[in-house]
Amino acid sequence: MSESHSAPTIGELLGAARSQLAAAAFAPEPREARVLLGWVLGLGEAQLFARSDQPVAAGAVARFGELLVRRLAGEPVAYLLGEREFYGRSFAVDRRVLIPRPETEQLIEAALGLELPPAPRILDIGAGCGSIAVTLAREIPRARVVATDISPPALRVLRTNIERHGVGDRVFAVNADLATAVRLERMDLVVSNPPYVDAGEAGELSVEVRDFEPHVALFAPQSGHSILERLLAAAGALRPGIHLLVEIGYGQADWLRSATAAAAGIELVDILRDYGGIPRTAVIRKRLGMAP
Ligand SMILES: C[S@@+](CC[C@H](N)C(=O)[O-])C[C@H]1O[C@@H](n2cnc3c(N)ncnc32)[C@H](O)[C@@H]1O
Repeated sequence: MSESHSAPTIGELLGAARSQLAAAAFAPEPREARVLLGWVLGLGEAQLFARSDQPVAAGAVARFGELLVRRLAGEPVAYLLGEREFYGRSFAVDRRVLIPRPETEQLIEAALGLELPPAPRILDIGAGCGSIAVTLAREIPRARVVATDISPPALRVLRTNIERHGVGDRVFAVNADLATAVRLERMDLVVSNPPYVDAGEAGELSVEVRDFEPHVALFAPQSGHSILERLLAAAGALRPGIHLLVEIGYGQADWLRSATAAAAGIELVDILRDYGGIPRTAVIRKRLGMAP
């Protein structure tokens, strides 16, 4: 019998994989089977559907099986594929960096809605794979972006994405603890999606997040607010009227309101809600008339 007669078809492979995914405790989406098989075969979801009776070669069956085993162990799809889309662009990701989240695109929208000089100097603190820094550089053609991260492995992924998106002359990756070594008074905008999860809440995270994403990207030391507190303190060094846009976690809006009210020289302009209605992006501004 030839291989094509004994080989499983696309439809059979998808059916079996969907059943296995449905039984996983962390509730993967059923369409992930199509995403993974499509990636192995180089086919889109509609093509898979149209070719569901087509047999799949042994090598591709094996590669799909390996991906499925890793997915069933909880590894996120973005790490399996090595990329994730953010604001319409593909970013290289692996276990050295947090997977960019769709809700962080709101921070991009907020930044693009601000009045900025034609060639703004932007600082992205905790840049990870560079989703924010690179996106702002691509969306604001004359922007120059300093992108800091404390994690040298994350910086290597960041540099890959800077190169991938052709912004090496305008995005500068810096190994730093928050904004130390950066002259904040020169910045026209500061953005950050910092770690904001409390280590005590680790048990509430899904296996996919807790066991696979870098803990330095998830957990703030001491408490969930500790990095946010340091960012608010740093914002005091900005020029009057300059904005700090910062992503916050679920349940942190009240804390942020009190913290900004108590902080010298800055004001909370707004907290934007994400698509799920959760307060997510804080718009903070150095008060006018307050010297850095
Ligand atoms: C939540 S991730 C955000 C990554 C990326 N900006 C995004 O939105 O997808 C936080 C990033 O901050 C970095 N980080 C954690 N503590 C830091 C610190 N003290 N100084 C600079 N970067 C830090 C982590 O390595 C991680 O890459």
